Amino acid sequence: ANGARVPVLVVGTGYGGSVTALRLAQAGVDVHMIEMGMAWDTPGSDGKIFANTTTPDHRSFWLRTRTKQPLSNFLGFPIDKNIPKYTGILDAEEFAGIMVYQGRGVGGGSLVNGGMAVTPKRENFAGILPSVNADEMYSTYYPRANAGLGVTSVDQRWWENAPCYQYARVGRKHAQRSGFPFVFVPNVYDWDYMKAEEAGTVPKSALAGEVIYGNNAGKKSLQKTYIAQIKSTGRVTITTLHKVTSVAPAAGGGYTVLIDEINTTGDTVATKSVTADRVFFAAGSVGTSKLLVKLKATGALPNLNNEVGKGWGDNGNVMCGRANHMWDATGKLQSSMPTAGIDNWAAGGAFAEVAPLPTGIETYASFYLSITNTPHRAEFSWNAATGKVDLSWQTAWKQTSINMAKTIFDKINQKEGTIYRTDLFGTYKIWGDHLTYHPLGGAVLNKATDNYGRLHGYPGLYVMDGSLIPGNVTVNPFVTITALAERNIENIIANDL
Ligand code: FDA
Repeated sequence: ANGARVPVLVVGTGYGGSVTALRLAQAGVDVHMIEMGMAWDTPGSDGKIFANTTTPDHRSFWLRTRTKQPLSNFLGFPIDKNIPKYTGILDAEEFAGIMVYQGRGVGGGSLVNGGMAVTPKRENFAGILPSVNADEMYSTYYPRANAGLGVTSVDQRWWENAPCYQYARVGRKHAQRSGFPFVFVPNVYDWDYMKAEEAGTVPKSALAGEVIYGNNAGKKSLQKTYIAQIKSTGRVTITTLHKVTSVAPAAGGGYTVLIDEINTTGDTVATKSVTADRVFFAAGSVGTSKLLVKLKATGALPNLNNEVGKGWGDNGNVMCGRANHMWDATGKLQSSMPTAGIDNWAAGGAFAEVAPLPTGIETYASFYLSITNTPHRAEFSWNAATGKVDLSWQTAWKQTSINMAKTIFDKINQKEGTIYRTDLFGTYKIWGDHLTYHPLGGAVLNKATDNYGRLHGYPGLYVMDGSLIPGNVTVNPFVTITALAERNIENIIANDL
């Protein structure tokens, strides 16, 4: 409530925020979580909480009047369409050089992501977070994160014959024929539920193609794991459709937090002020970076250091499709939950997830989201003229990622006698190089913060999300974000409370 004083305020309810709130609550601290998106706990008029991938509606996008689908075209036709403006689940946030996709609502990115739960290879960890003790991460915090998230591996015997993974088996065949390591990757989907979907005994979710606009069943989003545990502590309140706009030192100690209450068309309906002893920034890489850069530049938190806003990367994301021969059908039924990838990281700097194209029709296409070892890092800065935060990412930087992805797909195309699809991202455009699903960095660990996320210059302010990670994790990021948050909050509880 307006004017309240609270011990802990957490900005955002994604991975970093959920770990923070759970562990503090278990340590006996009362926690208030503030989330700008919706609760996503109430079915719409169609009886479902979330819209299907093939039929986006007002629930699908964050405050847009037209969809901005990652694949903008299909067989030469643009597929975006008008929708009512609403505080929907997927934010396609536009910066000058890149579109950053993010989840909005209680659970953050866990609401919209593909559930791929990948622990980076140990040999790569020193390059990801050089100041963090790898032994501790791999013995304690990665296992804790994997357990908390409900990560499991697909039953490979079932996978070998499941029609919904034909696309992945085609992906394996092509990878192996070209000599690339094909690796299974864990996921947070409930595999028993997927088998029941296949048997027709439960409502379909992954097998109905649900993913980027939410899964109505089967996927263990944070709502079913960390946030369910948070609720059972009885010590955490979650306030939705509230957006934190400012944090500044309060006269009597602690921090004054300004919060806009918004309605479902995004208008501010009330502004509230709360005083918090401690504030944990967990608004995601973009959300946290935007707040910190603005607060430093506008004088609310002038003592933040010059590392704030720096070290941002796109995890090297680039997408592409390949056109297969007619004898390599990928199947009209495709599970929306990826299970595998092609690992050419050491040799070519690319790890490609074998992704579905859940269109419901046979496309003869193989589709991939590559994570690449790009060196490019951008910086957020405050633009006083527009009153917004800009990002210095250059579209041309994606060419490095394309070249790395080509180390895999040029070779496969040559071996198979196939070509790239040119119809998925526009007319005659092969590469989805305008976007990222994996924003990382902007308040890098041991630079903008100490080695555990304490912001330099302001005791009681912390960063707990993907902005701590300097731009790349070599694989999909949420397990590392969760594990790092588990590590940091343990240290903070032991030393600061
Ligand atoms: P996250 O973004 O999860 O949470 C931040 C929360 O803060 C959001 O709920 C946001 O609304 C809220 N917020 C922001 N600003 C605020 C403010 N000012 N006030 C109040 N609230 C605010 N990763 C992976 O490992 N495997 C995968 O398969 C995929 N797949 C995938 C698909 C798609 C389509 C997307 C968009 C992303 C993925 N990801 C993924 C990425 C993964 O989801 C992402 O890395 C994490 O969600 C990031 O976790 P954080 O805790 O950093 O923030």
